[in-house]
Amino acid sequence: MEFSIKSGKAEKQRIDCVVVGVYESAKLTDSAASIDKASKGFIANVLKRGDMDGKLASTLLLQSVPGTDSERVLLVGLGKEGAISEKDYRKAVIASTKALSKTGTKDVANFLAEIKVGKQDAAWKVSQMAEAVRDSVYRFDAMKGKKDKKDKKSGLMKLEIHLADSDNKATQESLRQALALAAGISLTKDLGNLPPNVCTPTYLADQAKQMAKTYGLTAQVLERDDMQKLGMGSFLGVAQGSVQPPKLIVLQHNKGKKDQKPVVLVGKGITFDTGGISLKPGAEMDEMKYDMCGAASVLGTFKAIAEMDLPLNVVGIIPTCENMPDGNAIRPGDVLTSMSGQTIEVLNTDAEGRLILCDALTYAERFEPSAVVDIATLTGACVIALGHHASGLFSNQDALAKELLKAGEEALDRAWHMPLWDDYQPQLDSNFADMANIGGRAAGSITAACFLSRFAKKYDWAHLDIAGTAWKSGKEKGATGRPVSLLTQFLKNRVAKSK
Ligand code: BES
Ligand code: MN
Ligand code: ZN
Repeated sequence: MEFSIKSGKAEKQRIDCVVVGVYESAKLTDSAASIDKASKGFIANVLKRGDMDGKLASTLLLQSVPGTDSERVLLVGLGKEGAISEKDYRKAVIASTKALSKTGTKDVANFLAEIKVGKQDAAWKVSQMAEAVRDSVYRFDAMKGKKDKKDKKSGLMKLEIHLADSDNKATQESLRQALALAAGISLTKDLGNLPPNVCTPTYLADQAKQMAKTYGLTAQVLERDDMQKLGMGSFLGVAQGSVQPPKLIVLQHNKGKKDQKPVVLVGKGITFDTGGISLKPGAEMDEMKYDMCGAASVLGTFKAIAEMDLPLNVVGIIPTCENMPDGNAIRPGDVLTSMSGQTIEVLNTDAEGRLILCDALTYAERFEPSAVVDIATLTGACVIALGHHASGLFSNQDALAKELLKAGEEALDRAWHMPLWDDYQPQLDSNFADMANIGGRAAGSITAACFLSRFAKKYDWAHLDIAGTAWKSGKEKGATGRPVSLLTQFLKNRVAKSK
């Protein structure tokens, strides 16, 4: 799809469709009023008849409106007159693409960016529109048969975002960054949606190498032997039940100053989580292909910042393997020795994410990071606590937690700060090793974070539990691309701060 910023009168657009906003009680936005005038009151009449009430995200498609040069005009409801909220703006934009998806419209001139949205500027409105549109036209048909692919309508091809001033540098740059972000989100969704027989640890490693080649990053892939030498007994314990070889992917985006300490992103890459010997129940087990969404969000964020050419040093570490039951798999009761030297009694082989992450966190020390953020579909308990709206955020450093919360707010990809108090640590006591890998049913997402914190003592660290936000279940089943927006915003803010 092609995006551009344009200016011009709404009624003068020779295009498949023009999108304009209307408020409740028949109040028109500037461009809707302009069309209304050119058409001698056509829009006002439609509203008077009651076919459209202006409620937020309602739509009405009009054909061949007199006095206009476009084939169609789409009216989009904006709710009560006045500045609408950021979220509602996004909803209105998404409603406009949804309404057009069932029509023959290919090229659109969208005037919704002219309206007032909170305290946001034009650059923000442009970037949100581009990103929301890319997001809502996303489709995953890589695994569909040829016929099914061809039968689909080709959909939107071109979006012109209309503003009073079209050649403003800030809005152009903002569009460029939004498209970079959207490309990252799209990669994250694709990797998540791919089936687990395709998206294996080896596949993820190949993707990382490919990306490094395209963007001039460095990618290094550690194999089982390398990890054995490093003493990653915890990670390799999880991997030993699978015929797929484990990989530790290390990506580096070195576009900051030479002496600048890097931000390290660590992503959980379980390409399928059966639970291992502590086997999961069968219902919806297919969704455990999404257990690599932390890894996918790291790769997506790297794509976004590489396309932006963000001047920052960032390291990505992805431990990736399968969690399978097998004659060689780890058993409940096994004791593993992690790279840190700490020993772990495996009381449940389904608590495998923390077992692969802990060795990756120890490995992160060698980069002398300014901060480490891990991203993981870690616990079902986090879904119970926060549902599907916010990711769980844990940190050993309040300032870092604040940065991430702020980035989430700005990017409309929110996280919620959860406690990491020492009070919870004793739940991990073990009679046979330095710690157990589970802490009982109570506060399951917190004890999982407590476990990780024991491997992250040497630097500022935060953990995002994305079990509830990385994908949707049910009829709309699919990866969401979260929290690539949050992470990218966090990194962009770090660049601004370092200036
Ligand atoms: N990948 C799962 C967490 C998960 C479950 C995410 C369901 C989203 C939906 C993780 O590896 C896991 O199995 N966690 C266990 C931990 C328990 C054994 C302490 C869980 O949450 O049940
Ligand atoms: Mn598990
Ligand atoms: Zn898992």
